[in-house]
Amino acid sequence: MHNVLLTGAGGHVGFALTKKYHAEGWRVFATCLPKDRSTELEALAEQSKDQIRLFDMDVTDAEDISRVADSLKGQSIDVLFNVAGLTVHGDIEFGKTDYAMWNKHFAINTVGPMRICEAFAPHVLRSVRKIMMTISSRIGANPSYGFVGYRATKSAVSQVMFQVHLALRDQGVVACACHPGWVNTTNNGNKGALTPDQSAAMLFDVVDGLQPGDGGKFFEPDGSTLSIVTQQFDQKPYGMT
Ligand SMILES: NC(=O)c1ccc[n+]([C@@H]2O[C@H](COP(=O)([O-])OP(=O)(O)OC[C@H]3O[C@@H](n4cnc5c(N)ncnc54)[C@H](OP(=O)(O)O)[C@@H]3O)[C@@H](O)[C@H]2O)c1
Repeated sequence: MHNVLLTGAGGHVGFALTKKYHAEGWRVFATCLPKDRSTELEALAEQSKDQIRLFDMDVTDAEDISRVADSLKGQSIDVLFNVAGLTVHGDIEFGKTDYAMWNKHFAINTVGPMRICEAFAPHVLRSVRKIMMTISSRIGANPSYGFVGYRATKSAVSQVMFQVHLALRDQGVVACACHPGWVNTTNNGNKGALTPDQSAAMLFDVVDGLQPGDGGKFFEPDGSTLSIVTQQFDQKPYGMT
């Protein structure tokens, strides 16, 4: 049996992924903020006969993360799935930037996934699949204006996952980012194009189909890819960075 650890398991896509992995016969370590433990999530865990284990974990809290990593010491995690995220809460209007909100966005959306990848790397390295996947957003790759704060955190986390790929590929880890589609949630006034269950099914397939050479890629939910980094690696005389 394979094991998956999900962050943000109480959210729309997180809960849908919890249900999908459970239905596919995986053991699920479902982590979320205590306030996000919905009745449905608790009931599903209760019925699962310990195949879904719930953990309270804030992805910005180093102590919380170590506590969960310690309690799973010795377990393998085939798929480490960073789903937790803070979605758009108002735009940044040039000249009126809410820096506190932007910092909070970065802590959750960008730094959080790196904390999780570092803390659970030993568990992933023990596993068969050795996959680290983070839900980023296509908005972080689109050259359009608006949602500056959120967009920047998602651009950055795609790059974070590329760096995790470079750091761990020699140990067999496949680290990637993905876009979940425009998902119908209360965050976007239920205007999305996919239901959370549809998004979860597509993301499950993307992850299931990952090959060793897919590390560092940024996937759309249909399995196609977007670019995170330029493929132009030639050195310029005026510097490397
Ligand atoms: N829905 C879309 O169309 C769409 C598009 C592109 C990308 N995404 C990304 O997909 C992921 C899932 O989104 P979703 O639509 O399912 O949104 P969601 O329902 O808001 O799910 C995100 C979950 O993360 C939780 N969370 C926030 N801060 C956290 C923290 N510090 N530690 C642990 N959990 C935390 C949220 O809790 P609270 O609700 O209590 O804050 C929420 O339960 C997010 O990363 C989002 O940015 C979504």
